[in-house]
Amino acid sequence: MTPPRNCTFPATDWTVLARCWHAVALSADVTATAPFAARLLDQDLVLYRTATGLTVAADLCVHRGAPLSLGCMQEGAIACAYHGYRYDGTGRCTLIPAHPNAPIPGKLALRVFPARERHGLVWVSLDPGAQPDTVPDFPEHVDPAFQIVTVPPFDWDASAGRQVESFCDVAHFTFVHPTTFAASDPVVPRYEVEATPRGVRAEFASRVGNVSDPAAAQQTWRRIYQLHLPFTAHLSVDFPAGGRLVVFNAACPVSARRTRVFAVVARNFDRDQPVADLIAFQQKVYAEDQRIVERQNPEDLPIDLGEEVHVKADRTSVEYRRQLARLGLGRGFTA
Ligand code: FES
Repeated sequence: MTPPRNCTFPATDWTVLARCWHAVALSADVTATAPFAARLLDQDLVLYRTATGLTVAADLCVHRGAPLSLGCMQEGAIACAYHGYRYDGTGRCTLIPAHPNAPIPGKLALRVFPARERHGLVWVSLDPGAQPDTVPDFPEHVDPAFQIVTVPPFDWDASAGRQVESFCDVAHFTFVHPTTFAASDPVVPRYEVEATPRGVRAEFASRVGNVSDPAAAQQTWRRIYQLHLPFTAHLSVDFPAGGRLVVFNAACPVSARRTRVFAVVARNFDRDQPVADLIAFQQKVYAEDQRIVERQNPEDLPIDLGEEVHVKADRTSVEYRRQLARLGLGRGFTA
């Protein structure tokens, strides 16, 4: 594994992150009719489907370096826009139009990466030996009791670590989300945080502000955050009167300071309510966070706990930073 040219990550961090799985696209955006372009860790990718399934490869035709995402799908293969070379689902070249009957050099093959589809998302690792069982879990996605709503991805000018930490921050609700869901009381009661084999688990109870029933507004709503290293978080919110809302937040580190955020929501209540309303609400909440996170300085999440100042309310982010350090990040997180 070699960092791409113009890599914005320190080489050590890139190598650690390249071994992990990251969501890079919505499954629905990858079709058999046209290639789809994405970027992960500064590596340009092309995604396409053939009879053999999904392929994720470096977005680079090995003939003369044209991006394959500019090409098209022809007869079950991806065809380059420059000289028409075709590549099958394994990345092997199957046709050189200028010499259709000549032997095809074995070196004419795409660099293909491990990929799998879960939760309506395409997950990719840049490590050929990546273990597929380490893709984050999202049990509600296959539970028929839950309605699944996929929010259009967000593109933030921020690091993935800052985005995920913001998603799990419990002390900012009153200040950043006063008109969407936060209660007016900024006090953060003690809450439980623990390290898990894959990341961090935090359990937090608080009131919310977006309920009209005065009795419900006085009750506590249980939130469980499950962080899966490096950049995925599963949040479940249990309503006092029953019902659960889950927000699955997968942050794709496009580059060191550019993040594509995939948000998939599951709910087992209000299934007759318009999906558009739920999407609009999530977009509003994410926009409230984006305004802050894109302006944080330094842009990269400080892994060293000696940087920035931590109080008890920050226990989740402190443990998250510890876990990222254990993963091997932070030995020069700034580019
Ligand atoms: Fe792709 Fe020549 S650059 S076929």
